[in-house]
Amino acid sequence: MVKKHVIKPYITLKESFKNHKFIKMENDESIIIEFKRNKVRKMNDYFKEDEYWKGRTDKSLEDDIWIEDYKEFFDKKGKCLDLGCGIGQYSKILMEYGYDVTSADISRLALNKVKEFNKNVIQIDMREKLPFKNEEFDLVFASLSIHYFSDSDTKKLITEIRRILKKGGLFIGSVNEIKELHKIKDTAKELEYHFYLNKNKYIRLFDVKDLENYLDIFNVVKIDERESIRFNNKKNYLIFIVKK
Ligand SMILES: C[S@@+](CC[C@H](N)C(=O)[O-])C[C@H]1O[C@@H](n2cnc3c(N)ncnc32)[C@H](O)[C@@H]1O
Repeated sequence: MVKKHVIKPYITLKESFKNHKFIKMENDESIIIEFKRNKVRKMNDYFKEDEYWKGRTDKSLEDDIWIEDYKEFFDKKGKCLDLGCGIGQYSKILMEYGYDVTSADISRLALNKVKEFNKNVIQIDMREKLPFKNEEFDLVFASLSIHYFSDSDTKKLITEIRRILKKGGLFIGSVNEIKELHKIKDTAKELEYHFYLNKNKYIRLFDVKDLENYLDIFNVVKIDERESIRFNNKKNYLIFIVKK
């Protein structure tokens, strides 16, 4: 519920987004209010309110697993953070590889599923400071989970990931590729360059250059394109391996 109606200017939004206003909540979270035909509608926080995982936690994602093809990069055992782990299919494999895995996500539904095989789970919000110590992890893994954020939140998150990685540690993951744009182009509004609001969900799409720019505080080892199947749909993404 909206408790305090203080309009907050949001200067980075494009002109096309002028029908939306940000208002500040008492708990200091900014949310978007969408003005549509004189009606005011509060937008859900899509992932926090479990819109993504509702009715999906029993679906198989095994077709989409790619890390077996990169096994040589997963040889330095130790502490691993699976960031935005979802229902934890990668956490499970990383545990089998011998890592001590912390599975982190914003979704309680997904984390409940992960708890069936990993007791080390934590609810986090990647838009906030990560609740981990400096240089705590040998590996940070993030499959399709860091592409939901504004430019400033993405930069902050990547700086945070570097902070919690040991020197020489790897950050490995995947992000939606710009080739996915055709799926949303009729319904999405571009809020910032390559950052969209599609219905009630934010999404960032990357080309290789975008990814290189965001990851430039690391040494880039590899960036690969991949086409896969996820929830029975074709999916194009970029896989990255970078080193601190
Ligand atoms: C596309 S799913 C990927 C899940 C899993 N890594 C995989 O490859 O199947 C994106 C995940 O990111 C999580 N997520 C989205 N926004 C988040 C946030 N702000 N903080 C933490 N997790 C978030 C979602 O709950 C979801 O589990």
